[in-house]
Formats: sequence, structure tokens, C-alpha cells
Amino acid sequence: MPKINFINSNKVIDVPENSSVLRMSLRYDGELPNRCGGGICGNCVFKIEEGAEYLDQVKTHERRKLGDELVEKGYRLGCQTFVIDGDIAISWNEETRKEVVKRKPEKHRVSPQTIK
Ligand code: FES
Repeated sequence: MPKINFINSNKVIDVPENSSVLRMSLRYDGELPNRCGGGICGNCVFKIEEGAEYLDQVKTHERRKLGDELVEKGYRLGCQTFVIDGDIAISWNEETRKEVVKRKPEKHRVSPQTIK
């Protein structure tokens, strides 16, 4: 069984494989901030401290909300992220949460091939 270590709330919980990070936080009082549950508001942004390889892939609309830079730094949206089959540790901070909440999702980029 994978474990999620919610560093800020000092909770380590066993979760079933393929669990939603936000759903597990809500169920076991992980205290990850949240609001919409649908990848829109950005409140559930967290940083992967350990176990990035055990998370599912970043979704397109998650990347649009976070932007490439935060995704490259290891940030994800809790409501859009699933723990596959290994232990992870996550943290979050108020500064990044506010930044992401304010951020307008990027429009789909037009790739050079499409312009031809
Ligand atoms: S709770 Fe709103 S984006 Fe995750």
C-alpha cells in the first residue's frame, strides 16, 4: 500500500493504489487546501518532495493552470494527481497557492507544425 506523507500537517497515511491525493487528504485530514476539486481554482497546489515517479502524468489542464515553470519545479494539483504504487511526500506553501489561484490558465499553444 502506498503512503502519503502530508508534511505540513505531519500525517502519514496508507492509501489504496491509484488514489487521488486530494480525496485522501479530505478523508484523513491531510489538510491540503482546496476548493473546487476540479482543477480550476488552484488552491490544492502542492510540491512533490519525494516519490514523483509514483504519481500519474501531469494532465493538460493541470499544466495550463500551473504553467511549465511550476510543473518543472515539481508542483502538482492535488485534485488532479493520483498516487500509483509507491510512497510520496508532499508539502505546500501559501505564497505558491496564492500565485496559482491568481494565475489565468494558459491558452493551448499553437505548435509550429500547425502554422504551416
Ligand atoms: S481544488 Fe481547485 S484546482 Fe484542485
